[in-house]
Amino acid sequence: MSSTMLRISELNVFYGQAHTLHDISLDVGSEDIVFVLGLNGMGKTTLLRAIMGLTPPRADGSVSFNGQEIIHMRPNQIALLGLGYVPQGRLLFPSLSVAEHLTLFYRNRSEKLEQKWTPESVYELFPALRDRSKISGTLLSGGEQQMLAIGRALVTNPKILIMDEPTEGLSPVIIHLILETCRKLRETGVGSLLSEQNMEVAAALADRALILETGRLVHESNMEDFANADELKDDMGKYLQF
Ligand SMILES: Nc1ncnc2c1ncn2[C@@H]1O[C@H](COP(=O)(O)OP(=O)(O)O)[C@@H](O)[C@H]1O
Ligand SMILES: [Mg+2]
Repeated sequence: MSSTMLRISELNVFYGQAHTLHDISLDVGSEDIVFVLGLNGMGKTTLLRAIMGLTPPRADGSVSFNGQEIIHMRPNQIALLGLGYVPQGRLLFPSLSVAEHLTLFYRNRSEKLEQKWTPESVYELFPALRDRSKISGTLLSGGEQQMLAIGRALVTNPKILIMDEPTEGLSPVIIHLILETCRKLRETGVGSLLSEQNMEVAAALADRALILETGRLVHESNMEDFANADELKDDMGKYLQF
């Protein structure tokens, strides 16, 4: 059974005087794939960065991970607890090769994990990376860069993987590969929280989806409700791409 790993409640985030996120509450379990949907500027990145402790200067409310309050922890402490993060735009290091990205971030979390991610198992998942292991990560194609950004998060052996618009600008083949990766993770008890602008992508995979509209969650439901309700779809057209 899926247990709640990440619990966000009444989260409010401010950039200076700007109150950007309002009373956000959501849960992600160890066998959940949850999408936060919304167009540009609605607050997806702010939310995911706030969870990772990356949004200064002010976040109020509660973010708990595995029962522990993390809202005022530093990003590296949060990552060490088992939250993997794939930032929007990948943010690879130009001075590091593909192999170095994987070996430097590799961390052997727990003997008990069913799937232990190593640089080798990332190469098995994404063979294209093995062929290019010696070149700089930033010289890869967009799809390969995203595989590397995901691989870099996987080798930390996270309990929950957070990905900010991982499909942005990528081909259907690569999008499929990313979604399959989330599915495999779910089978091993690793849940995912993803942000996305495209409803079709979310519909292919999500257990639950939430819609973010100018910093507020305006709708939450399971994907069957989204897919079956034309009315809801019409309504969602205001917020999303189809
Ligand atoms: N560093 C920042 N300082 C001030 N405002 C910001 C900052 N980053 C984002 N914002 C504002 O916060 C809102 C949400 O942005 P963002 O979280 O990037 O949305 P999304 O990821 O959904 O495109 C936008 O109005 C944006 O202009
Ligand atoms: Mg964003």
